[in-house]
Amino acid sequence: MNQYKQLLALILLVIFSACTKPKTFTESDIHITPKPVSLKLEKGNFKFSKNTQFYVVTEEQKEIAKILIDKFKKAAGLNLITTPNIPTENYIVFKINNDLKKEAYELNVTEDHIEIIASENAGFLYGIETLRQLLPEEIESSKLQSTTEWVIPTLKIKDEPRFSHRGLMLDLSRHFFGKDYILKTIDRLAMHKMNVLHLHLVDDQGWRIEIKKYPKLTEVGAWRVDQEEKAWNSREINDPNEKGTYGGFLTQEELKEIVAYATSKNIEVIPEIEMPAHVSSAIAAYPELSCKAEPIAVPSGGVWPITDIYCPGKETTFEFLENVLTEVMDIFPSKYIHIGGDEATKTNWKTCPHCKKRIQSEGLANVEELQSYMVKRMEKFINSKGKNLIGWDEILEGGLAPEATVMSWRGTKGGKEAAEQGHDVIMTPESHCYLNFYQGPQNEEPKAFNAYTPLNKVYEFDPVVEGMTPEEAKHVLGGQANLWSEFITSDELSEYMLFPRLSALAETLWSPKEARNWSDFSARIPFLFKRFDYLNINYSKSAYLITAKSSVDINTKKVYLTLQNEFPNPDIRYVLGDQDIHNNAIKYNDSIQVDDTTVLKASLFKDNQPVGKVFVDTIKFHKAVGSNITFKKPFNSNYTGDGPLSLVNIIRGSKNFHDGQWQAWLVDDMEAVIDLGDEKEITQITVGTLESQGSGIYYPTAVKVMISNDGKNYQEVGRTVRDYKANPDVKLLNFNIEFKSTKAKYVKVIANNLKETPKGGNTWLFVDEILVN
Ligand code: ACM
Ligand code: ZN
Repeated sequence: MNQYKQLLALILLVIFSACTKPKTFTESDIHITPKPVSLKLEKGNFKFSKNTQFYVVTEEQKEIAKILIDKFKKAAGLNLITTPNIPTENYIVFKINNDLKKEAYELNVTEDHIEIIASENAGFLYGIETLRQLLPEEIESSKLQSTTEWVIPTLKIKDEPRFSHRGLMLDLSRHFFGKDYILKTIDRLAMHKMNVLHLHLVDDQGWRIEIKKYPKLTEVGAWRVDQEEKAWNSREINDPNEKGTYGGFLTQEELKEIVAYATSKNIEVIPEIEMPAHVSSAIAAYPELSCKAEPIAVPSGGVWPITDIYCPGKETTFEFLENVLTEVMDIFPSKYIHIGGDEATKTNWKTCPHCKKRIQSEGLANVEELQSYMVKRMEKFINSKGKNLIGWDEILEGGLAPEATVMSWRGTKGGKEAAEQGHDVIMTPESHCYLNFYQGPQNEEPKAFNAYTPLNKVYEFDPVVEGMTPEEAKHVLGGQANLWSEFITSDELSEYMLFPRLSALAETLWSPKEARNWSDFSARIPFLFKRFDYLNINYSKSAYLITAKSSVDINTKKVYLTLQNEFPNPDIRYVLGDQDIHNNAIKYNDSIQVDDTTVLKASLFKDNQPVGKVFVDTIKFHKAVGSNITFKKPFNSNYTGDGPLSLVNIIRGSKNFHDGQWQAWLVDDMEAVIDLGDEKEITQITVGTLESQGSGIYYPTAVKVMISNDGKNYQEVGRTVRDYKANPDVKLLNFNIEFKSTKAKYVKVIANNLKETPKGGNTWLFVDEILVN
């Protein structure tokens, strides 16, 4: 044996002896998400080896066992087998207990064998998914992990879901997700014990399901003119004669494959076929479906308000919808058919002769009742096929269809109302369940819908809302995350928006309410991330990002910065000035005092390494920091910044206008007077503003600066004017006013509000800082 071989033998010996030492597990070694109802850890452990066998009886059980068998093959290089005969040792057995509820399971791990007990395959599946998460994260690897020991603790788990509907909606219209991505998503849902995949197959910007009777739905309706380079809301209206090239659709065969795969993972696929609005794609294919029957193009981007909608006055519209739904119901065995029903602007119905006739013949009071007539009629048809109708909460308007289930998205109010009326509801309030919203500081994130739902907010979601009686609460089937895809440009970005927020939502829907614990959940996040890394999921680390707040001492003019992120007791470290965060980072304990312009870098650390993105902020100190500031008209009570001194606190606002740094005025101008304490030499004023026209926020039309030494007589030193311009984005802008260096004690700044939008709505003016230099 030469020297190297001797060394190798020694290394192998060391590894081998480390491996044979029995591992002792503690509670903190267990990171199952969603958290099981009860878990009792015992002292021993069970080791998977090449001899481990799965004792299973049915084909379905074999399929379920295969989830782990495949993982062991790739990650451990072990070829585990299934057997119809009970092995003598080292095996996993599936046992039936009909007393357990559907989806419930028990998992008993002893040193000798593992029992998964359930009444149905769903329970066996969830037992296997839990077993998977008891195994080291390396089990998710597609490459051999030769140094990992495949050992789990002996324990007893009893587990069952809190809610029966634990869903995710994918919007296939605005971004077309193909079959492969949907199949991957099904695996990820099952891993999280989610059991509903709601496919939003129809919307204005694309029809995504093959309907054999109406081929133009996909020949025409599935394709839009490619304007993907432009911002969603500034894409132009297309010529109906121009051929669309961007889009796609799923064939009935592909959809059947998706359904079969989902069924094997206890996932119900609920198809959504929108009506009467969000159907420009269908009207582009068959213009006669609308009141005006005029040709339109599939829009390439945002449409608002949505007035090109189906005409419920014509019998042919119902014939079309029933034919479409008949094909849909042949593909999807789901108990539910979702008919949309949201956001219909019914102006055309008011003037359409067919609609007017229908309103009259049916004795309807208005167009809301006409929509209700349409939904009720569709419900009768859906019920006649043995299925139930779901609609967005707008279906409450004009009267609910008798058996309808309501999906409450505009908050939980609609859901509460439906439950009061004895209807089933699924809660998907935008505030907690819309995963197309930002999840981190907006300036750092990929473009998203302009609202904010961080991880810890999703974790607070509860489908049973305050004030519900126990009877109403029984009607709450569960909840659902919705991923609208206007700003989703790739599958990777979709993963980024979904994870880990979907993990948080899964826990809110599965685990008992009493078990909800943000600190406990957030401690499990890094282990989920490790799994996601092996699974090549492009998850977001936004929850790691640092945000800064400040407080100003009006006497000393010193500013104190506090740093935080979403996690409890985070290990935040920072550096000031021009240095690298890796080297001299100071552990953040208490607020940081700043009295000069500097660069602040901060990061969350784990195991002495920075994780996530580094927060970098150039703190611009200026002559008004901590000065007294008064306003002629007070800022709006909904947008108070971080207090009265927010505009002189050096912390700048982000593109998220709810970030607590913005003060705002509705219609009124901002007129501020800053008292610099004593006369100071000044030459420049900068006013930080924000524009988000979609939210009614507009840049000022002019900023004027005046100075005074007595606070009574003011002299104008400069102004800047900016005319209104259409802007589809959210943008920040500094208004700079420079003037000849002058001494002044008081500075008056007037920023003029646009007051009224070109369409006639009131406008907001937002300001985050007035810098005096
Ligand atoms: C919806 O977000 N329009 C249901
Ligand atoms: Zn009509």
